[in-house]
Amino acid sequence: MSDAKLIDGKAIAAGLRKRVGAGVGQLVAKRGVKPGLATILVGADPASQVYVRSKGKIAAELGMTNFDHRLPAETTEADLLALIARLNGDALVHGILVQLPLPRHIDTAHVLLAVDPAKDVDGFHPFNVGRLGSSAPGAPLDFPVPCTPLGVSMLLHETLGPITGCHAVVIGRSNLVGRPVAQLLLRADCTVTIAHSRTRDLPALSRQADILVVAIGRREFVRGDWIKPGAAVIDVGTNRIPDDNGKNRLVGDVAFAEALPVAGHLTPVPGGVGPMTVACLMFNTWQAARRAVGLAVAAAD
Ligand code: GUN
Repeated sequence: MSDAKLIDGKAIAAGLRKRVGAGVGQLVAKRGVKPGLATILVGADPASQVYVRSKGKIAAELGMTNFDHRLPAETTEADLLALIARLNGDALVHGILVQLPLPRHIDTAHVLLAVDPAKDVDGFHPFNVGRLGSSAPGAPLDFPVPCTPLGVSMLLHETLGPITGCHAVVIGRSNLVGRPVAQLLLRADCTVTIAHSRTRDLPALSRQADILVVAIGRREFVRGDWIKPGAAVIDVGTNRIPDDNGKNRLVGDVAFAEALPVAGHLTPVPGGVGPMTVACLMFNTWQAARRAVGLAVAAAD
């Protein structure tokens, strides 16, 4: 059998950014509304700094305003909540993103609950989590959906077309990725199994998957013989490991070289899911601005 077709997340994300940029241009021209994204980073975690900088830069490139809030690590929960309340009331801000993880003295649940659900471009507010969990197949996604899961869903639709009746196995049950990915695939009429580190005989279960989404956070966890020949494999893992030059190299949750001759479609790491996350954040911010002026949402999944 020939090698898997690589799913080019970079190219698909570039297409999505282009679509968002054009939509933002129209919103500005026709309605005089410029989408605004507020990013909040508490502390100086190097990886988070890179992510937040990239989110702000791409927002600006697509014609949106970025309100960049950097707060010291010792910021109190009350001060963070006060900033969020101010942004909730600011008509120039359509999306609010609080970069996670937060310092340990701040209760993440309190913070996520404080963001206005209409501005929750991460889709982490319990109200939006509930909306996704109860949304019917075919109904529009007229609320924000977490960015990485939305990116996974877009990659699958772009690559496979309709996925009705496929057995999708999602390895990982995090609130950020595994659970919302499973909800999106259920909406897309897949039969969904959520597996995790305690699942019995994970290799045998994985081998039943037409679509295998791996978001477990362990480098090269899924081996080649866990994959059903021809399956679509989406690797959400981003594990940083030191290379021979003293720098960091990004490795996925799937053993790429082993998966390549078995899978039908496969995302590389980097260049697969990663670029979709930021592009979907831009999509969510554009959609939040459209909803703020009473316009319908664009198709997302
Ligand atoms: N940290 C890691 N992933 C994410 C994400 O998707 N959103 C936010 N806000 N923080 C993150």
